[in-house]
Amino acid sequence: MSTFLITLLASVMVNVIPQPVSVEMGEGFFDIAKSRHNIQYTINPESGIAAEGYTLTVTPKGIRVLASDEAGIFYAKQTLKQLIQADGTVPCLQIKDYPRFAWRGFHIDPCRHFISVEDVKKQIDLLSQYKMNVMHWHLTDDQGWRIEIKKYPLLAEVSAWRTEFDGSVHGGYYTQEQIRDVVAYAAERHVTVVPEIEMPGHAISAIRAYPWLSCTGEEVKTFYTWGTPDISLCVGKESTFEFLDNVIAEVVELFPSEYIHIGGDECRKNRWEQCPLCQERIAEQGIVADEHATAEEKLQSYAIHRMEGILAKYGRKLIGWDEILEGGLAPTATVMSWRGEEGGKKAAAAGHEVVMTPGSGGMYFDHFQGDPKIEPATIGNYTTLEKVYSYDPVPAELRDAGKGGLVKGVQCNNWSEYMYEPWQRWYMLLPRAFALAEIAWTPLERKCWPDFCRRVEVACKELDEMGIPYHIPLPEQPEGSCNELAFQDEATVAFKTTRLMEMVYTLDGSEPTVDSRRYMWPFKVTEDTDIKIATLTPHGKLSPVRTVHVRKCEPMPALDSSAMFKGMRARRTDGKFVTAADIKDAEWKEVSIAQFGELTSLEPYNRNLPDSTRFYAAEAEGCFSVPKTGTYRFSSDCDMVWVDDVLTVDNSGEVKRYSRHDRELVLEKGTHKVKALFIYNVIGGWNNLRGKTDVNIMPAGGDWKKIKVKP
Ligand code: ACM
Ligand code: ZN
Repeated sequence: MSTFLITLLASVMVNVIPQPVSVEMGEGFFDIAKSRHNIQYTINPESGIAAEGYTLTVTPKGIRVLASDEAGIFYAKQTLKQLIQADGTVPCLQIKDYPRFAWRGFHIDPCRHFISVEDVKKQIDLLSQYKMNVMHWHLTDDQGWRIEIKKYPLLAEVSAWRTEFDGSVHGGYYTQEQIRDVVAYAAERHVTVVPEIEMPGHAISAIRAYPWLSCTGEEVKTFYTWGTPDISLCVGKESTFEFLDNVIAEVVELFPSEYIHIGGDECRKNRWEQCPLCQERIAEQGIVADEHATAEEKLQSYAIHRMEGILAKYGRKLIGWDEILEGGLAPTATVMSWRGEEGGKKAAAAGHEVVMTPGSGGMYFDHFQGDPKIEPATIGNYTTLEKVYSYDPVPAELRDAGKGGLVKGVQCNNWSEYMYEPWQRWYMLLPRAFALAEIAWTPLERKCWPDFCRRVEVACKELDEMGIPYHIPLPEQPEGSCNELAFQDEATVAFKTTRLMEMVYTLDGSEPTVDSRRYMWPFKVTEDTDIKIATLTPHGKLSPVRTVHVRKCEPMPALDSSAMFKGMRARRTDGKFVTAADIKDAEWKEVSIAQFGELTSLEPYNRNLPDSTRFYAAEAEGCFSVPKTGTYRFSSDCDMVWVDDVLTVDNSGEVKRYSRHDRELVLEKGTHKVKALFIYNVIGGWNNLRGKTDVNIMPAGGDWKKIKVKP
């Protein structure tokens, strides 16, 4: 067979993620279904094969696997599984393979939304098949404490639970027995479980049960909103370190991992500035602020050094988020670089090992992977599959300085604030985790985006067979997606996808199928039309269907001068409302605001205690002008917006960010009236006093602008 044909065959048949280091195709096949016994696995520590690596040789007579450790055999088996064709044969070939990085991590966050043991195991099971080998288990945070600690039973009894805005209770924790079970399950799949016990910030749940852990000893609730509170552990008190030592003593009994993650991120230090004990500690330690760090940053560094000592006592190593660099890095610490790559570069330059997990590099899988207007709500940002794939965990600077070897590995972080249902965790994880698996394992020169896209389809087909959901790029509109379009004479509607894929659609109201009309180019609409459109993956699966209503409209007439008014009419009513329907028999009071953006200004935002301010609803109304008759799109994170008394945006009951209910109207040139209803509440953990309440307008072919009501 010609070399060309062999190469071609290799590219068609070898559908392995992550791409192996080398693949040489042979001739013929081995029929695995007929002769399973002809597979030989050998471990030889003297084989010269790298740790976790293997060689896999397939001939018509059988299969031979050689590795220098158990992990290598496990990974060879994962490769082999992916090589088996539908007819039960495996193409003859030789694969030599080993990982680029020792730390191929995925992080899970059961604190924001609890993850059952069964689901934790499912993730371990799936990701280990793609040669991921570290699960970073974020076990404690402001919104819940998830690990049973026998010495402090209230952590499970009290801190594991939170009461949400609507009165429902969310929570859960893992018993020590369950943790042992998960750790053993992971070990069987060559996954090390690295626990994270957060300190000195993100510790409200611990303070909930044991208020003496904070500087003030004040009573707090386990948080039901997202964001970072001011209240941290008091590091002036010895009792705080006793607590942490006792917790770690139980943690190390459960987790054999060499590394224990101590958090260290986003610790607000303003209470330390006021705390006599924290200040005493600063004095006692001779800490003085300098041009690099404040005294409180150095106090955090002191606390991290103490943790390093505690861990060393138990024979473990410290890993923490990159804030542990502030005020001086502990001598043996490993840094997890999340705020970009700077922390990682700085730590490695100083000779420390680092794990790269920058949001800016695509490692935050809680980011949107498509248009926020149509995707389920997330924490924000934008990280496509291609962005993940294009990330190289070794920054050029470190490579050029000969420090690339200090990059121990790479990891995705799956913060679960907005992952309300188990399916959302999969949806955010996949297929991005496949890209991560490849950047973590495959040598740079073997990466190839078009070929990866082909292999991802094979992997997604497997997910279909396992019933695991994943993200398929939705049909998006180039100017921003909107399901409620309007036009006067005709409209042109265009769609695109974030990855090269076909789209299928119908115009007769029926659900699109794989055989529906292919979308080829933008089309004109001249009468009322419902477009139902979906993406069709190369392996024949449809994305969720989008329904886009396109409506022919007469322009809504401008106000005559008698109906116009100046300034803003606004009023508020106090109470805990979820939606507009809850506002009954309200006693409204007039308030004075000048623009819609001020609807959040009627109570102070309190990051520590949303309940300490009054919940309310407020309505505001004003007039604005449009310069010409035409189509205008409206958007707002308010609950509801009416234009000329027509309900235009309705975000009722949703997490009010990213306005997922934009709508177009056709307006006559001149002045119109706009009214917005804002409800200060907490839906899905989002304290919307932090949000924006502008009403935004975009003319056809133009840009978004805040509506300014006539003063
Ligand atoms: C982090 O995302 N706060 C580490
Ligand atoms: Zn203190």
